[in-house]
Amino acid sequence: MKDLLTIAMPKGRIFEEAAELLRQAGFDLPPEFDDSRKLIIDVEEERFQFILAKPMDVPTYVEHGVADLGIAGKDVMLEEERDIYELLDLKISACYLAVAGIPGTKMNEVAPKVATKYPNVAAAYFREQGEQVEIIKLNGSIELAPLIGLSDRIVDIVSTGRTLKENGLVEYEQIVGITSRLIVNPVSYRIKDKRISEIVDKLSRVVNEQAAQ
Ligand code: PRP
Repeated sequence: MKDLLTIAMPKGRIFEEAAELLRQAGFDLPPEFDDSRKLIIDVEEERFQFILAKPMDVPTYVEHGVADLGIAGKDVMLEEERDIYELLDLKISACYLAVAGIPGTKMNEVAPKVATKYPNVAAAYFREQGEQVEIIKLNGSIELAPLIGLSDRIVDIVSTGRTLKENGLVEYEQIVGITSRLIVNPVSYRIKDKRISEIVDKLSRVVNEQAAQ
C-alpha cells in the first residue's frame, strides 16, 4: 500500500470510543474493526494500517516509529514519558488518577507502601508531597492490595468510582485528570505532515462539536 499511515490503537476500554470518533470524523472503518482478534488491520480505502496494542505500549510503538500515530491515555503518557508529540486532546475516556485506600486509615509511619500500575507517576506524586513511600508495581486489580494488606494506599484510575465503592475503598486525593490523546512520532510528523494535519483537522472538528453540545 502506498503512503500508508500506521496508527496504534489501544485495545480495551478506549478502543470503542476511539473507533467511534474516527468514524464520526469521516473515516470508513470496516465492521471487522469492532469484533476481531486480529492485531494488524489494513484499511486500504483510507490508506491506514491499524495495530492493536496494549494501552501502556502505544507510546512505545509510536516512539520507535513503527506506528506514525497512536491513541494513548494521558495516564500512560505521564507514566512512560516517551519521545513523542501530543497532537490533540480527543476528550474521550475521561477519568482521573487518584490516591485511594481503606476509609479512616492513616499511612504507616514506617515504610508506607503504595501499590499501583503507575510507579513513576506515583513516585513523583509522593515525592512532591514530601512523603517517602515504597512503590509496589502491580499489573491490574490494584484495589486488592489494601484489602489484603499489601499496601496502605493505591494510586489508580477512577472512572465511575464503582470499583472503589464495591470494594469498600475511598478516594483520598485526586492527582490528575485524564483523557485520551492523539500522539505522533516526531519524524513521521515531519515527513507526513500534510496527511497528518488533515487527520488532526477532521478529528478536532468532531471533538470541538462534541464539546459545544
Ligand atoms: C481500571 C482501574 C480501576 C477501574 C476504575 O481497571 O484500574 O480498577 O478501572 O473504573 P471505575 O471507577 O469505573 O470502577 P481495569 O478495569 O482497566 O482493569 P485492571 O484492574 O486490570 O487494571
